[in-house]
Amino acid sequence: MRVLSVIGARPEIIQAAPVSAALAAVGEEILVHTGQHYDEAMSDGQIADTGLPKPHYNLGVGSRTRAQQLGLAQKRLAEVIDQERPDVVLVRGDTNATLSGARAAAAAGVPLVHVEAGLRSRRKDMPEESNRVQTDRLAQLLLAPTAGARRNLLDEELAGEIHVTGDPLCDTLEQWRARIQPAGGDYLLATVHRNYNTDHPERLQEVLACLARSPWPVLMPLHPRTRARITEWDLQVSPWIRLLAPVSYSRMLALERGANAIATDSGGVQREAYMWGVPCLTLREETEWTDTVSTGWNTLVGVDADAFQEAVGRPTPSKRPPIFGDGRAAPRIAAIVADFIHRQASPSPATTGRPLAASSSSFSSSSEEVVV
Ligand code: UD1
Ligand code: UDP
Repeated sequence: MRVLSVIGARPEIIQAAPVSAALAAVGEEILVHTGQHYDEAMSDGQIADTGLPKPHYNLGVGSRTRAQQLGLAQKRLAEVIDQERPDVVLVRGDTNATLSGARAAAAAGVPLVHVEAGLRSRRKDMPEESNRVQTDRLAQLLLAPTAGARRNLLDEELAGEIHVTGDPLCDTLEQWRARIQPAGGDYLLATVHRNYNTDHPERLQEVLACLARSPWPVLMPLHPRTRARITEWDLQVSPWIRLLAPVSYSRMLALERGANAIATDSGGVQREAYMWGVPCLTLREETEWTDTVSTGWNTLVGVDADAFQEAVGRPTPSKRPPIFGDGRAAPRIAAIVADFIHRQASPSPATTGRPLAASSSSFSSSSEEVVV
């Protein structure tokens, strides 16, 4: 089987390594980087650190307006699909690279697999929400990381076949766990880059004001978007907050593991905080990773400095169920994709449309108990 697999931004790169290894065990992966992220620390440095193979293509899309990024990536992906003729296109997450891959696959008539399907923030001003919803509508295989994501897909009555696989980010972190020594000292780790936190000076200044209330010094690896805005608007940054360049994935894991608390608006960092058992304060009014909140490990504080200060000292819950799966999402994803391609290639009354739900290599789409 030939899987054309799309990456573009940092979180897709970080989650790709275990899926890539699992796909290599059952077929061929053509790895295509749209080039949405391109700084060494956001892209090639992360590829090297996570052990992801060098992409076969880098489409060099770079930084542009959303419409231009979507259009150019789709056009260049269409050319690669035409040349490589894959059995399926696999996209993950919710970036512009994700939606570009989905649109290119749909236009070429190639079945689409969406890893990390079914997440919803219900927030209309988030490009990621639009990317997720549109991608899920185009996908033939919807691979949900959690039972809650599956429920969202069922509620929307989408056409694709749904499986709950667990979260490949959990595979990535579990593969690192034994090698990561927590960074030392008392500190709060912070990351901020969401569009609605960084597109207006007042809002970004409020984010920084929240962080200044941390009881511990703040370490903040800065996304290039956030660094540019802080500089452009000459915002006030408390000396309590130490601004860093983006760090490698292994360094980030060490910083997360050693932190007294994490404050973030990142989807990946919220999940990693949970997986390490470090309390998280989310600098947003909503999250698509709702299980982290309902289990009591994550608090949505928005940009309310009082709410931030109140939540940062709160004791942690006694239980931390494995909401992101068992660290074996990637082999499950590869097995589901292989079975899907097999059914497409040899349709028969016995196999057509039969999901892999009964197979032991997959969580069944009704296996909410298995995931947790
Ligand atoms: C993108 C994703 C977001 C994801 C984030 C991960 C979309 C709509 N958003 O947001 O879901 O959480 O990546 O980090 O796809 N820049 C650089 N160097 C780089 C990349 C970006 O300097 O290597 C700067 C540029 O000024 C650019 C800005 O960051 O304009 C934003 O980059 P972009 O890729 O458009 O969106 P992100 O904010 O990174
Ligand atoms: N990350 C990293 N270095 C940093 C900041 C984040 O390696 O300086 C990792 C983080 O551990 C997580 C991923 O980047 O795995 C999350 O990506 P990001 O926050 O950029 O995007 P999101 O998850 O919000 O889409």
